[in-house]
Amino acid sequence: MFNDLPLWPARASTGAANVDALYIFLVALSVFMCAAIFTMILVFAVKYRRRPGVAAEQIEGSNALEMTWSIIPMFIFLFIFAWGASIYFRERTPPRDSAEVYVVAKQWMWKLEHESGQRELNQLHVPVGRDVELIMTSQDVIHSFYVPAFRIKQDVLPGRYTTAWFRATKPGVYHLFCAEYCGTQHSGMVGQVVVMEPAQYQAWLSGGPAMPLPAEGEQLFNQLGCSTCHRADSQGRGPSLVGVFGKPVLLEDDRTVLADENYVRESILTPAAKVVKGFKPIMPVFQGLVTDEQVNALVAYVKSLSPPQRGQTANRAAVAP
Ligand code: CUA
Repeated sequence: MFNDLPLWPARASTGAANVDALYIFLVALSVFMCAAIFTMILVFAVKYRRRPGVAAEQIEGSNALEMTWSIIPMFIFLFIFAWGASIYFRERTPPRDSAEVYVVAKQWMWKLEHESGQRELNQLHVPVGRDVELIMTSQDVIHSFYVPAFRIKQDVLPGRYTTAWFRATKPGVYHLFCAEYCGTQHSGMVGQVVVMEPAQYQAWLSGGPAMPLPAEGEQLFNQLGCSTCHRADSQGRGPSLVGVFGKPVLLEDDRTVLADENYVRESILTPAAKVVKGFKPIMPVFQGLVTDEQVNALVAYVKSLSPPQRGQTANRAAVAP
C-alpha cells in the first residue's frame, strides 16, 4: 500500500511497517471523525432549522449521552496509547549483539565510526538483515539523525550519548537528514545510508586499512597514561576497568549507577562527577583534551573489557525515557 506514492518514503527497516500502521490508523480515525462531525452539522442544520409556527424544544442534558461520548473515546485513546508505547519501547531498545556505529555530528556533517575501525563522512554502509545500534553525540549544537526509510529520528546532543537502532530489510541507498535546525547550513547536512547484501558489505569492509575501534582506544589508553592508574590487577590508584561495563557501580556517596556509555564518557571528561567508592578524586580532567572521536574509542575499549555484558546495553535503553 502506498509504495508507488512519492509522498511516502520507502519502507526499508523492520520497524517501518509498525510505524506506518499506527500512522495510517491515526489518519483514518481523524478522517472518519471529521467526516462524521461535518455530516452531523449539515444534517442537524437542515433538520432543526427555524420554521414558522414550530417552537424549539429545550433539552436539559443527558447523562447517558455524555457518558457514551466520554467513555468510548477514552478507550480509543487508551488503545492508541498502548499501541504507540509498544512501538516506542521496541524502537528504543537495541537488540543484544547489535553492530555498533559511533556517530559524531557537527556543523554541518555526520562522522561515522564503525566498531571495526572504518570511518565515513555523510555515508553509512550497513549490511541488510543486521541490527545496527547508533551511539551518537554532537561536537557543537543539537542535531537530529533522521532516516525516513527506516522511520527513525533521534536528537543528537552535545555532552552526552543518545542511541537509536534499526535493522535494514532492503538493499538500496536511503536519505539521511539532519532534522533539527542547527545553523545556516542545516539544510545541507544530509547524507546517505547504503544498505548492502552481506557479501558486498564484507567486500566493502575489507577495502582500506582500519584499526578496530577498541584497539585504537587501547592505544590511546596507554598514550594518555590511563593504564598507569587503571591497572587490570586492581593494584592501581584507580579502579580496574575489567568487567566494569554494564554493571552497577557503587559511588563514594553510596549512590549506585549503571556503567553505561554515558557514565564512561562522563568519567573520562569530568572524573570528579562520580567517584567510585574507595577511591580518591585524583584523576585529571580530560574535558577539552580529547576529541569526541577519541572518547568514542576509549568507550569502545572499556566496553571490550567486558564482552559478556553486551546485553546490558539493551536493558539500559529499555528503562531510559
Ligand atoms: Cu545538523 Cu540540522
